[in-house]
Amino acid sequence: MGRVDELRTQTVWKSDPHTQVKHLVYRHYLQCWMAKILQKFPEATIVDCFAGPGVYTDGLAGSPIVVANTFLEHTANERFGRLNLICLEERSDRVEELQRQVAKLPRSPKLNVQVQPPGTFAEQQPRLSALAHRPRANVPVLWLIDPFALKSAPFALIRQCLVGPRDEVLFTLFTNELHRFCERENFDKTMTPYFGGDHWRPAATADRRAWRRKEAFSSAYQDGLKAHGLFTSSFGVEISSQSARYHLILATHNEAGLKCWAPMAWKLDSYSGQGASADSLDALTLFGEEAVESRLDAALRDYAGTEQRWETLSSQATRLNYMDKHLRQSLTSLASKGLAFRVNPVVARTDWPEGCTVRFYAPEDLIDEAS
Ligand SMILES: C[S@@+](CC[C@H](N)C(=O)[O-])C[C@H]1O[C@@H](n2cnc3c(N)ncnc32)[C@H](O)[C@@H]1O
Repeated sequence: MGRVDELRTQTVWKSDPHTQVKHLVYRHYLQCWMAKILQKFPEATIVDCFAGPGVYTDGLAGSPIVVANTFLEHTANERFGRLNLICLEERSDRVEELQRQVAKLPRSPKLNVQVQPPGTFAEQQPRLSALAHRPRANVPVLWLIDPFALKSAPFALIRQCLVGPRDEVLFTLFTNELHRFCERENFDKTMTPYFGGDHWRPAATADRRAWRRKEAFSSAYQDGLKAHGLFTSSFGVEISSQSARYHLILATHNEAGLKCWAPMAWKLDSYSGQGASADSLDALTLFGEEAVESRLDAALRDYAGTEQRWETLSSQATRLNYMDKHLRQSLTSLASKGLAFRVNPVVARTDWPEGCTVRFYAPEDLIDEAS
């Protein structure tokens, strides 16, 4: 039986390497998200909107079980508030299987798993939103949106998941399908609602090379989110020597939300922090650090002639999907060339402590005018 038939006819299907990578992204991101959110708030909710049956034929756990286990096995679990995990799945046979898988989980008074009756995301989103925000509108909610098809998750629905002040979305963007079908007649009728506008069009024609176009679609989608004042980052899930099959997109109201994304991205892809190949997870340090510093270096060089506080620099690094450790590496590299100096504090135990102030210079500033 072919893969498409298997997905269509079987209750449970076989996992693939992409699923492994996607779940690794979930696990790494959730490890950090739970530590931050559940130690700060008494309660939070995760809504798995395309939950699946909770297991694969080869034994891999499905996403709701991955979420539950990440919570149950977290080293800081004792200090956590309560987690509500709400699961939606369209097919009744998959809902029944998911209920069986959930029943096998160890009981915890702090984990409340609610498997909803079969239903579609589009129809159920308002009800899920009401459930997720109970008892308070400002409870943090993370929406996992992982459909099979583009049409199941148009941008308008993604926006609806982001109405609460602490709503975040982790969304599977089908960049491979977008690349393959964007020039087909009438496909714009799918693309435009998917992106919530026409801003995908330049990406379709600018550079038709697969990896370029997929990255361009990912950027265009993120531009649509940014236009609504959201912070966003992406991660490409690839297979060996091919460009990404899909991108995982994070959308959040608060820049602090990106702080959990960058460590995940750098852990899974130490080359660029932007994507992981399904078969390269064991060879993460294949590449040197030189290339990874350049985007951040370039951004820091633009500060030439100014003094910047650590908070500004750290925020800039976060927006570019870098961590503070990369910022420190970049600053050290610039300092070795005489282009960055810590001006405050004068005495410190480390070179770039939090709260420091850094002055930046341009290479031209180094030229001795007398010579
Ligand atoms: C990609 S799979 C989910 C896999 C799961 N998130 C995981 O990582 O283990 C998509 C699931 O969504 C279900 N589905 C398809 N259309 C749906 C819809 N409109 N609303 C809710 N569920 C849907 C499918 O039956 C399928 O089980």
